[in-house]
Amino acid sequence: MGSPMNNVFLSLVTFTILLDSLVQGDLKVLNFTQKLDHSGLNDEMSNLTFQQRLLVDDSQWGGAGAPIFVLFGGENGQTFSPKEYGILGLSATEFKAMLVNIQHRFYGDSVPLGSIDLAMADERVRKFLATDQTLEDYLVIIQSLKANYSANNSPVIVVGMGYAGALAIWFRLKYPQITIGALASSTPLMYYGNSTPGDGYCSIVSKDFQDYDSQCYESIRKSKKLYDDIASQPDGLAHLSHIFNTCRPLQSADDITYLLAQVYSFTVQYDDVDQKELNTLCHFINNEGGSIQGYVSALYEAMEAGEGCFDGTFLEVNSPFEPPSNLTTAWAWQKCTELIFPIGCTDTTMLPAKPFDMNQFTKSCQKRFGIVPQPYTPISIFKARNIEESLIGFGGNIIFSNGLRDPYCSGGILKDLSKTIVAITAEKGNYAWDLYTLDYGYDPKWLKEKREEELKIFRHWINHFHHINMGHRFSCCAFIIYFLEVIILYLCT
Ligand SMILES: *[C@@H]1O[C@H](CO)[C@@H](O)[C@H](O)[C@H]1NC(C)=O
Ligand SMILES: *[C@@H]1O[C@H](CO)[C@@H](O)[C@H](O)[C@H]1NC(C)=O
Ligand SMILES: *[C@@H]1O[C@H](CO)[C@@H](O)[C@H](O)[C@H]1NC(C)=O
Ligand SMILES: *[C@@H]1O[C@H](CO)[C@@H](O)[C@H](O)[C@H]1NC(C)=O
Repeated sequence: MGSPMNNVFLSLVTFTILLDSLVQGDLKVLNFTQKLDHSGLNDEMSNLTFQQRLLVDDSQWGGAGAPIFVLFGGENGQTFSPKEYGILGLSATEFKAMLVNIQHRFYGDSVPLGSIDLAMADERVRKFLATDQTLEDYLVIIQSLKANYSANNSPVIVVGMGYAGALAIWFRLKYPQITIGALASSTPLMYYGNSTPGDGYCSIVSKDFQDYDSQCYESIRKSKKLYDDIASQPDGLAHLSHIFNTCRPLQSADDITYLLAQVYSFTVQYDDVDQKELNTLCHFINNEGGSIQGYVSALYEAMEAGEGCFDGTFLEVNSPFEPPSNLTTAWAWQKCTELIFPIGCTDTTMLPAKPFDMNQFTKSCQKRFGIVPQPYTPISIFKARNIEESLIGFGGNIIFSNGLRDPYCSGGILKDLSKTIVAITAEKGNYAWDLYTLDYGYDPKWLKEKREEELKIFRHWINHFHHINMGHRFSCCAFIIYFLEVIILYLCT
């Protein structure tokens, strides 16, 4: 079963952007001329614009009044047809909805100065890679789109996964008049609030392996010793570099441990519903009876790279082992400036111990970008002591969906916060299960049922919106009738 998430993984590995091959049929691929700076400050970069990419599928749209679902792009910069994302595809059919997928600024094709390297190298430009500017991008595009389609009476629902899910929530809180509700899929919102145990992510990776295959889990737990033993021999590191086919000579055996830790994390985060990736990985490890060959094979298999060398920079996962790399420059900037995830591992999991170290993190950000991380920036927008409080205080119509197999659920909101801020959790779900590609013949019952729960809530939001709108029109009518009656009464007397 294919999911856009797996495609993301694939494309990162092969460095292929699949986008242009997907532009076909009902899909409109548009560029929107976007202001780099929405703040209104008139500095030297204020008049700069860039082309922001959006995909529009209006093939099932019911016309003015029918809803618009907007998928906010995140750090992956991928824009697959919005219909590819399960719950969106279902919504298009169910509600005659228009589907829109907007790329995030500084990712994919939506890059100022036409090149991410140029944009990130220029501190006058990169400072505009910020969440508040991003929310404004989405606002401007939604308004422009509604105007172009004469869709002022169309309710808008915003959707995002991971970090983009947080954007969807912030957007809903900031612009309740623009969107009737938000769905945040697999968004580890509580990591921002610093109230999640640092090793939450790693402990779920570890638990997923343990639940699935305890033999495989035990082997991985012990594997660090294998690499250390080889590395301690004369020319040991060169040998390790050779058998793992690394792009650069290894500096220490930890490089391999961390590379594989990323592979394990990635596997459980983005696995299919039937855990096919996990199955394959453990198959290789178990087959070699815990010897080093098993890990080499597992790495080759996971990276789907028959040729070519391995490098931490191939992966872009949010585990503590994420390497600094060119690929992730924009993401590294966002993490350094606003989106600080204090994710670490302790020695209680199968992954190598690597606690989150704020001092080290700060140093790395200073060295790289000359800035000091500001942990509470996105939260301070809402001026509340904690996230839950601010959500309950002035939020509504929000769905948090999480898969309990997704390591990110450790920072997710897993319980209803109010009548209209609800949590939908799937025990067997991985990252963004509700957005998996639809596969009618194959999707398990729980997946269909859980998606149905979301559709039911959407239906409620949409009906409520139309109800209020009708009521409004009704009261206008009533007023006009009353007015006419008064005139008639006046003329007759
Ligand atoms: C959209 O913008 C991208 C990047 O700036 C450019 O390469 C592409 O040709 C543009 N497409 C259209 C249809 O204008
Ligand atoms: C931006 O454009 C406006 C209108 O064209 C102009 O008045 C202003 O001086 C420009 N600002 C800068 C900083 O170039
Ligand atoms: C990308 O990596 C290359 C080689 O590692 C380095 O020379 C270059 O400066 C990097 N570019 C950026 C924007 O970090
Ligand atoms: C709306 O139409 C205008 C004028 O054709 C165009 O410049 C703009 O990009 C359109 N907006 C969107 C979101 O497509």
